[in-house]
Amino acid sequence: MKTIIANWKSHKNNAQIQQWMAEYQQALKTTKLSPEVMVAIAPPMSAVAVVSYLLGANAIPQTELAVQDLSPFPPGSYTGAVSTGNLEGLNVKLAILGHSERRRYFHETHQEIANKVDLAWQARIQPLVCIDQEYFAQQLAAIPEENWSKLWIAYEPVASIGTGNEAPVADVKKVVDEIKSKYHPAAVVYGGSVASDMIAEYLTIVDGALVATHSLEVPDFMSLLSKVK
Ligand code: PGA
Repeated sequence: MKTIIANWKSHKNNAQIQQWMAEYQQALKTTKLSPEVMVAIAPPMSAVAVVSYLLGANAIPQTELAVQDLSPFPPGSYTGAVSTGNLEGLNVKLAILGHSERRRYFHETHQEIANKVDLAWQARIQPLVCIDQEYFAQQLAAIPEENWSKLWIAYEPVASIGTGNEAPVADVKKVVDEIKSKYHPAAVVYGGSVASDMIAEYLTIVDGALVATHSLEVPDFMSLLSKVK
């Protein structure tokens, strides 16, 4: 099974998201996805409930709901934070945690990210921890070793995020092999300017892809999904 995660970051208002979902549902009627692909949509927090509703109400196939972040605290007096408790009942399957943009602009620490991972597990949400080459050892050291094998890890070289510079597959493979041999995670995905031209090649070495730019427009995203066999 290959998982393609659409990370919309802070793009799109509610009307645009409903439009995207309607177009996507329509496109799935003509472009049949490989039975080996699972899509996870990670909308901005403001639209998680509406996407949850649309996925369920329209029985959209092979598509799950993800979130881009979680509160590092349990439900309680933490103004502005969205806890796993707030998400209960929305059928969130996956949480992107420790994205490099969260580290850079919101100064998230390895320990905060490890706390989020723990809360995700308690809520039966699969954590997908984003790492880059230079800090993955420190990041994973903050997570108890007995949990490494349950993790999903996203290798996202910062130089490739949103730049159009897809990392060469051979370079990605080196890091992915190192991660697999040291931590034996349940899955490793690649993220960084993934587009339809190279997706099939990446998927020979990883279990999925984290896609932002090329998930924003349905035709672009469908052309990428159609390459996943
Ligand atoms: P990109 O972003 O696909 O626009 O490079 C990937 C990500 O940041 O997850």
